Amino acid sequence: MKNTTHHSTDVVIIGSGAAGLSLALSLANHCQVTVISKGALKEGSTLYAQGGIAAVFDKKNDSIESHVEDTLAAGAGLCDREAVHYTASNARNCLNWLIEQGVPFDMEVDSKGKERFHLTREGGHSHRRILHAADATGKAVQTTLISQVQLHPRINILEQYNAIDLVQDKTASPSFIKGVYVYNRKADRVESITAKFVALATGGASKVYLYTSNPDVSSGDGIAMAWRAGCKVANMEFNQFHPTSLYHPELQNFLITEAMRGEGALLKRPDGTRFMPDFDEREELAPRDVVARAIDYEMKRLGANCVYLDISHKDKEFIIEHFPTIYAKCLSVGLDITKEPIPVVPAAHYTCGGVMTDFNGRTDIDNLYAIGEVAYTGLHGANRMASNSLLECIVFAHAAAKDILAKINDSKAPALLPDWDESRVSNSDEEVVITHNWHELRLFMWDYVGIVRSTKRLERALRRVELLQQEIHDYYANFRVSNNLLELRNLVQVAELIIRSALERKESRGLHYTLDFPDMTDNPSPTILSPEK
Ligand code: FAD
Ligand code: SIN
Repeated sequence: MKNTTHHSTDVVIIGSGAAGLSLALSLANHCQVTVISKGALKEGSTLYAQGGIAAVFDKKNDSIESHVEDTLAAGAGLCDREAVHYTASNARNCLNWLIEQGVPFDMEVDSKGKERFHLTREGGHSHRRILHAADATGKAVQTTLISQVQLHPRINILEQYNAIDLVQDKTASPSFIKGVYVYNRKADRVESITAKFVALATGGASKVYLYTSNPDVSSGDGIAMAWRAGCKVANMEFNQFHPTSLYHPELQNFLITEAMRGEGALLKRPDGTRFMPDFDEREELAPRDVVARAIDYEMKRLGANCVYLDISHKDKEFIIEHFPTIYAKCLSVGLDITKEPIPVVPAAHYTCGGVMTDFNGRTDIDNLYAIGEVAYTGLHGANRMASNSLLECIVFAHAAAKDILAKINDSKAPALLPDWDESRVSNSDEEVVITHNWHELRLFMWDYVGIVRSTKRLERALRRVELLQQEIHDYYANFRVSNNLLELRNLVQVAELIIRSALERKESRGLHYTLDFPDMTDNPSPTILSPEK
């Protein structure tokens, strides 16, 4: 057995996306912070965000109330109004904070020759209110925050460290988290980190589906870890499918931003006719759940592999200026978006549910926080409105930092964790079990728990997930950990939570559509699952 390396810090942040890095920067002038990331520091959904971040900057035509109302409408009756109001009213300050960090949002010159931020539009928004850096906003945010974090002397960065599980002191009342075991991927060994406070900023779980816009790290680890530690989760049935992911054999999982529809792109059937006017009066700018279902319906009805998004009627210069990344990426596989329509299909994109928190990012366990896509704050309801997610990351990172700093001087550093015990496990001899189960899980989640569901399909999926859980549990008990094993263990847990939540909801609402209960009920409430159940 190898000796365990032990680390100790004031606050350990698991995840280095917009949420984790914003929290780190907001804390580090006052305490010692350790940020861990499962892969490269920059890798996570944040890096790939395209459209932008919503905030009211056009005070003359727009208002916080309008941002609130649009979010509530997109959330289909399940948003927590207070959470929405809290987020929308803090949006401008948070955007100003990002601007101070150096994020280069696009500017334009108004009719009086004054510079102002260029605001784009996306589905569900009744005004132009999205700040963006061309079509690569996430890259601008992520690289800027990374450069700030790397300069800070009190932020320790551990890259390629995969958090395995939270360690809890259950003898204390209230119980608290002492730290976390982490798998050091480069050294191939387990280490431990103790901390006064632990923050989960691990992003979403869309990797549970076969087709997704998300990078590999989005395997729901934070949700699974918090669940195993005893935290409640909510609204896991609401996984958002982005309507327009590129359909091309050489370029998979590449998103075509909704901002393209905001700037006039039209959805078309393979024969070139439009279909969104048949489905919703907001046409291409209806909320995502409506557009994704319309595409799914048309594809199934026509037996088509994809539909098309067409912006080629706009000037070439306009397209290249606003969508340089998409233009270049598509051109690299021979598709000129200034001349031809883009083949698109829906793909799993965003986890609206997650670990339940209050407005300070606090979970059910004292000293454990959850921020960003891993969390359920009540903001998104049954369907997240575009560009509200990066916003939520920053708003709740700042709130959590304030809450932690108010308590940090009165908190004691916990004792080091016991060594990780590998006395009863050996090296895996059948890696194929992991790759097979990984594929099987993502395939049946796509087929049975996707855009259109039914009770029969959900029950079928639950039976399969229970079998996989048993197999993976046995595997975990007998073999040394590896990155793939840890991710699969978490994905299977999250899949179970999604299916169970979907089975509990006896209606269709927002992103959850089931053939057995096609209507909305009166007085809906969030689906809350508790580990004791
Ligand atoms: P992420 O940015 O996903 O970061 C997660 C971090 O956690 C990573 O560092 C990862 O390594 C780490 N991690 C995970 N598990 C572990 C573990 N076990 N141990 C250690 N580290 C771990 N939202 C918008 O508001 N506007 C947009 O324009 C927009 N466009 C998008 C486009 C794409 C293609 C995608 C995929 C998403 C988009 N979203 C957008 C959604 C938004 O990007 C994400 O919700 C947001 O970036 C999530 O940030 P995060 O910090 O919570 O997580
Ligand atoms: C996009 O650019 O279409 C994604 C925006 C989002 O997910 O908020």
